[in-house]
Amino acid sequence: MSKRSVAVIPGDGIGPEVIGAALKVLEKVSPNKFDFQEVAMGGNAIDKYGEPLPAASLKTCQNAEATLLGAVGGPKWDNVSPEIRPERGLLGVRAGLEVFANIRPARIFQPLASACPLRKDIADKGIDFIIVRELTGGIYFGEHKAFEINGERAASDLMQYTEHEIRRIAHVAFKMARGRRKILTSVDKANILTSSRLWRDVVNEVAKEYPDVTVNHLYVDNASMQLIRVPSEFDVIVTENTFGDILSDEASQIVGSIGMIPSASLGDNNRGLYEPIHGSAPDIAGQDKANPIGTILAAAMMLRYSFEMSKEADLIENAVDEVLKEGWRTGDIYTDSEHENLIGGKKMCDVIISHL
Ligand code: IPM
Ligand code: MG
Repeated sequence: MSKRSVAVIPGDGIGPEVIGAALKVLEKVSPNKFDFQEVAMGGNAIDKYGEPLPAASLKTCQNAEATLLGAVGGPKWDNVSPEIRPERGLLGVRAGLEVFANIRPARIFQPLASACPLRKDIADKGIDFIIVRELTGGIYFGEHKAFEINGERAASDLMQYTEHEIRRIAHVAFKMARGRRKILTSVDKANILTSSRLWRDVVNEVAKEYPDVTVNHLYVDNASMQLIRVPSEFDVIVTENTFGDILSDEASQIVGSIGMIPSASLGDNNRGLYEPIHGSAPDIAGQDKANPIGTILAAAMMLRYSFEMSKEADLIENAVDEVLKEGWRTGDIYTDSEHENLIGGKKMCDVIISHL
């Protein structure tokens, strides 16, 4: 059988390290199955080609069956003009692949319970929810303007949603809830924003097709509080792009570390984009300190969603669980010197592989 094509974007900072680990794991779990095509995107592409997402890079991603991405950006490119910042490359890939649904699972890995900063009685109730973040609309893709009002500098960013953009992400979230505990929380700011009122109306319309799913609506400020107060009550959260960006960083701390969380971005076509939710962490790049687990779990999500290889995905996820149970820890999840072994990213990858 011909190999399955995967575009690989190592990116900047710790991106290449965590991607290297994920590719090793994939190759181990399914030898010779994938044709990996490395693609330049982000700061490295700016350095080489003068733009964060060269057309050829996007084409490779669009032609591949899935794209696996590390992380992009860093202080080196802080002063390039906004249109060619590394992050624009990332948004270009998301938009170019039309992956509007960003799935970010947050669950406590039992062996990491001590890394959860919440009170024990709260954590002990269990934390296992999924954020479904709208990824190709809202303020990220609205018009960005810098101008002048009465001689002083002014700027604006447009938050806009169309009905169909809300409807399609709502369907993804409802379906997800259906396969889980059947509770959907839609997060908005409908007391202030017109776009949120449309969001709420459309979610309620879609809800009629899923009578078995319970729907709650929360304002984003309240949601961020409830996530800390009663995280166990959340199952699936659906929200717009910016709120989802913010809430998923909050979620990452609730479950211990941003280094642990993978994400899958899906659309109506079958070309998924898979990435950890963390950034490029330039402060620790090149020091073998980065936790590769988020990216390794993103690779597992790729196997599950893009390649229907759920058996292999389970193998990877179980290996991660085992390794954590045994006490292996990268710096971001290390808390207990008596029971835990502090290791680097390479070693973490190796122990995961040894458990496959
Ligand atoms: C994320 C990141 C990106 C985002 C940045 C790097 C543009 O924070 O994937 O959550 O805001 O979407
Ligand atoms: Mg973010």
